[in-house]
Amino acid sequence: MSNASHATSRFYVTTPIYYVNDRPHIGHIYTTLLADMLARHRRLCGEDVFFLTGTDEHAAKVADAAREREMTPQQWADRNAAEFERTFGELGIGNDDFIRTSQQRHTERVKRYVKQLLDSGDVYPGEYEGWYDTGQEEYVPEHKAKETDYKSAVSGRPLIRRKEESYFFRLSAYSQQLLTLLEGGQIGGQFFRVQPEARRNEVVARIREGLNDVPISRHAASEEDARWGVSMPGDDKHTIYVWIDALFNYLSTVDTDERRAYWPADLHMIGKEILWFHAVIWPALLMALDRPLPRQVYAHSFWISEGRKMSKSLGNFIDLEKIQGYVEEFGLDALRWFLATQGPLGSTDADFAHDKFLDVYNSDLANTVGNCASRVSNMINRYFDGRLPEHDGHVEISDWHAHSAERVVDEYQQAMRWGQLNRAAAAAMDLVRDIDAYIEETQPYRLAKDPDQRVKVATILYNCAQALHIASLLLWPLMPGKMEQLWEHIGCGHYTRALSERGRGDFVQWAQWGKLPPGTPVTKGKALFPRVNK
Ligand code: MSP
Repeated sequence: MSNASHATSRFYVTTPIYYVNDRPHIGHIYTTLLADMLARHRRLCGEDVFFLTGTDEHAAKVADAAREREMTPQQWADRNAAEFERTFGELGIGNDDFIRTSQQRHTERVKRYVKQLLDSGDVYPGEYEGWYDTGQEEYVPEHKAKETDYKSAVSGRPLIRRKEESYFFRLSAYSQQLLTLLEGGQIGGQFFRVQPEARRNEVVARIREGLNDVPISRHAASEEDARWGVSMPGDDKHTIYVWIDALFNYLSTVDTDERRAYWPADLHMIGKEILWFHAVIWPALLMALDRPLPRQVYAHSFWISEGRKMSKSLGNFIDLEKIQGYVEEFGLDALRWFLATQGPLGSTDADFAHDKFLDVYNSDLANTVGNCASRVSNMINRYFDGRLPEHDGHVEISDWHAHSAERVVDEYQQAMRWGQLNRAAAAAMDLVRDIDAYIEETQPYRLAKDPDQRVKVATILYNCAQALHIASLLLWPLMPGKMEQLWEHIGCGHYTRALSERGRGDFVQWAQWGKLPPGTPVTKGKALFPRVNK
């Protein structure tokens, strides 16, 4: 069963499903925006995209929180899931579905998958023994228990040695296959890539230490607790462990007649703390189910804030209100740009600092993208009455031309293919900077004073406009609103309409040099990114 190619180009991208107890914050919004950018890029390329996000609801703490508020777990989950959905909607995130693990479409399928695993012997009943934290209602792994001298890291009370019946997943049987895949090999034509490299190496090292089978069910503490979760097929006393339930969302959502072709997922975008589940448990579960494997897992690092770990008590937590403040003051696209270019896509954490935000806004957006767009359109207005002039192939000006744009587009496409949005953004930015450098070098504003140089000025501005047009297509997935505004000014409003009516574009056609025909009306419009003072 190969996961290597689709007949039609389809692209299935997911985010983690978020715990419904939390309110949306920078972490959730970051991962979801990254997925949104990748989804938009593929739509622009004309692919058939499916972008999934949602909420993870069957944690015991959801039932606890609901009890404290005298609500049912479902009521509490409904309320908080709605908050996530509303927030993502307000932030213009274009997900195609929003999966909630409490929905029947999901729970039914989870039971079916686990039943298949029971039948194949990949899930079997056994006994689990370990250090239990009664306050937290969870087992603590041996090495962590040792670190805290066998006391709870939360309450400080002694951990209890506890033994209970549990169902286990035969993870140990898949070590060799997992190693083959994670080290870049293929199994039956399938590959499985984990990024970044450093994170993948950590996972490989841990697998080499040996894999144990993992418990995948818990004994329900109360009847209410048992009802809040998916029960083990054929054994109501056991509830399927929330993580196993959650991982299946990626498959269950598209396991329908209309959507089956989207599987396997192309990319699971996640944070580093949940990589083990996605790079080890998840592919092993899929192998046990004999389903194709996702092609890629990308585990980004974390945002910290003003140089320190985010915390509510330090007052540096980037919560929803703070994010909304940035959107109001600088616009949604400026936030998207900052997150994509300054974010923790590599293996180190990244700092969300207010001063840095202002610097990046001014240098990348106001002084580079915005300034370049207004320079080019102003000159076309001033010297050619707002119509794109003709290019004269005979004038010699510079060897800066179509090829440099082509190189940038290739680099950008490569980066996008692997989810490396920061590299893609840098490529797009290089093109914009090249336009500025070209203007400095050829000085059309000086040549324009001499009527004999008119053909040369026309050619220079033609080149600038073609490059700007290509740059706008490269930047659109990251800053759709602003680029649509720019498209209006350079006679490309039809792109916006094609994207909203057909849901896809035609990047390869559109991003060709010379696509903007001479005579195209070019208007000045207001500044895309007004400068801000510190
Ligand atoms: N419910 C599980 C995931 C199940 S997926 C099958 C979960 N949920 S969560 O609500 O805790 O969300 C975790 C995710 O939020 C991280 O993987 C990451 O995508 C994002 N982030 C949370 N805090 C973050 C930062 N400080 N920085 C960047 N992203 C982080 O785990």
